[in-house]
Amino acid sequence: MNSTEKLPATLASRYPGIEVRPFDAALGAEVGCGDLRQASEAQFEAIRQAWLDHLVLVFRGQSLSDDDLLALAARFGTPDDTFRPQPTDQPGQPRENRALTIVSNVIEDGKPIGALANVDLVWHTDMSYIEVPPDASILYALEIPPAGGETGFCNMYRALETLPPGLRAQLDGLTIKHDATHNSGGFLRKGFEFPADVTRSPGPNHPAVRTHPDTGCDALYLGRRPFSHAHGLPVAESEALLDQLWIHAASSEFAWYHTWSVGDVVIWDNRCTMHRRNAFDNNARRVMHRTQIKGTRPYVDTASQAKAPHPRGLHRSAP
Ligand code: SIN
Repeated sequence: MNSTEKLPATLASRYPGIEVRPFDAALGAEVGCGDLRQASEAQFEAIRQAWLDHLVLVFRGQSLSDDDLLALAARFGTPDDTFRPQPTDQPGQPRENRALTIVSNVIEDGKPIGALANVDLVWHTDMSYIEVPPDASILYALEIPPAGGETGFCNMYRALETLPPGLRAQLDGLTIKHDATHNSGGFLRKGFEFPADVTRSPGPNHPAVRTHPDTGCDALYLGRRPFSHAHGLPVAESEALLDQLWIHAASSEFAWYHTWSVGDVVIWDNRCTMHRRNAFDNNARRVMHRTQIKGTRPYVDTASQAKAPHPRGLHRSAP
């Protein structure tokens, strides 16, 4: 069975050896499989199928070392170098260890132990500002604030499938520049200048409609709103088109928010989701360890005409 068929009534038969509880929302499911470190290859096959079906998976009550987290990433693909120097890098640290990064607001000895501070993060898909962005990201909660810091996810299959036809038609053949200059917290990245002209600023052009290589379904692929540009259009037209797409995609009907507990592991698919984070009190500590999985270059398959919608696309919620 591939993942474009409607999900069967009995989830147990689709996901042998694990328990999958889809959220009553546009995406996401909680998976019960015990200790992820002990999961068998047969269970991981079911987990990977659940991930393609539900886009974001939550595993609760885990206890993972950094090596365990990297080993978990390896069950989904190749752990990816983040390319960016981290405050935690040690001189001479082997490159492959950079697949692990820290997302945190904590300052120790005057230095941040991780990235992204305590601020609101805008809707984005990870590292789409490079030519070959990661397929997936995994976040593991070690310390969480008493309030705030929730991470929202949205279903970009559904965002595409529900576009008004006139707007959808404007996406045929369109590519969008994914800005490389700013991060999702709105900070200018080290080494970049403020983009005075979005038609010339750095960042790859990716197709606005992206075919998922594993499900075969199409999703809207937007990256992040600030400083993006619809390739080939005058800036005013590009801004108008992107505004319409973003108002639609960021609608709450496509979204679901995760409220973290210590020990939660969340994996999301960057090819068909976006995510954002709520700000939290900077006096509280939030420490998350993060890894990501190497991806393939975004493309749109225009050859196959009649594509089935994704099971979590047009359907209100999974069975
Ligand atoms: C991220 O955007 O990768 C971080 C999300 C979070 O801190 O919840």
